[in-house]
Amino acid sequence: MTRTVYVNGAYMPEDQAKISIFDRAFLFADGVYEVTAVVGGKMVDFDPHIARLHRSLDELEMACPLGDDALREMHEELIGRNGLDEGVVYMQITRGVADRDFTYPEDAEPTVIGFTQVKPLIDSPQARSGVTVVTIPDIRWRRRDIKSTALLAQAMGKQAAKTHDAYEAWMVEDGYVTEGTSSSAFIVTGGDTIVTRQLSNDILPGVTRRAILKLSADAGIAVEERLFTVDEAKAASEAFLTSASSFVLPIVRIDGQQIGDGTPGPVVAKLREVYLKEAAGA
Ligand code: PDD
Repeated sequence: MTRTVYVNGAYMPEDQAKISIFDRAFLFADGVYEVTAVVGGKMVDFDPHIARLHRSLDELEMACPLGDDALREMHEELIGRNGLDEGVVYMQITRGVADRDFTYPEDAEPTVIGFTQVKPLIDSPQARSGVTVVTIPDIRWRRRDIKSTALLAQAMGKQAAKTHDAYEAWMVEDGYVTEGTSSSAFIVTGGDTIVTRQLSNDILPGVTRRAILKLSADAGIAVEERLFTVDEAKAASEAFLTSASSFVLPIVRIDGQQIGDGTPGPVVAKLREVYLKEAAGA
């Protein structure tokens, strides 16, 4: 089926969508994006995605060309026109089109695009089996809190994972895990305490991470936001990752080493169940 996509105010078949070669995102990765999950045709946690979009734009001194209602309408229109039941909506805003010059152009109109992708999120085979990760050095820039389209280091990391038959790569800096190439990283220590790195410029503030920390606190599960090493992760009773495009996935091996008994553990199973319930009802 040909998708209907959104480009600068217009909906069109994907093969008719065109962007200038002078778009700053093409030349400089000068753009930001959001990926929002859709379950049962409804968006999950849209408001925090929009809040993070504004934060990314502000950090780059980029104007938001559409109001929040228009952004929501664009997402809902894409979901409706494509009959999307389960999957994601990808939205990107770039600084726009200008002759190549490093400094920000003064009069460029931002480019806004959006499209849908079908993906099983609820009944996921990876959730049943658990996934494997490998660790790699974190070679990214120092403003990972901005959800920018500069994702080459993450693409290299995901390719390294694929080469090792792993689902995800966890990036490591100074011996500590930062995050996955497209997901937040968690471990469970002492059988009942969730540990994830504290927010800073070193990681993306994950929307799913935020929801999981809140659900954990509500369920009386202890949470520690702190650094953790690869060795601590390998010795953990459970490990998991979160993202809008995978929700909550158990990790059963890190660098080939089995985590816990090598099957999805009870804490992550509980969190996934609670999160799915909330997502389905959102
Ligand atoms: N990635 N960390 C990184 C580096 C990410 O790229 C993502 C999301 C996350 C999780 O954030 P959230 O829970 O808000 O999805 C953490 C999206 C899904 C992507 O690039 O496709």
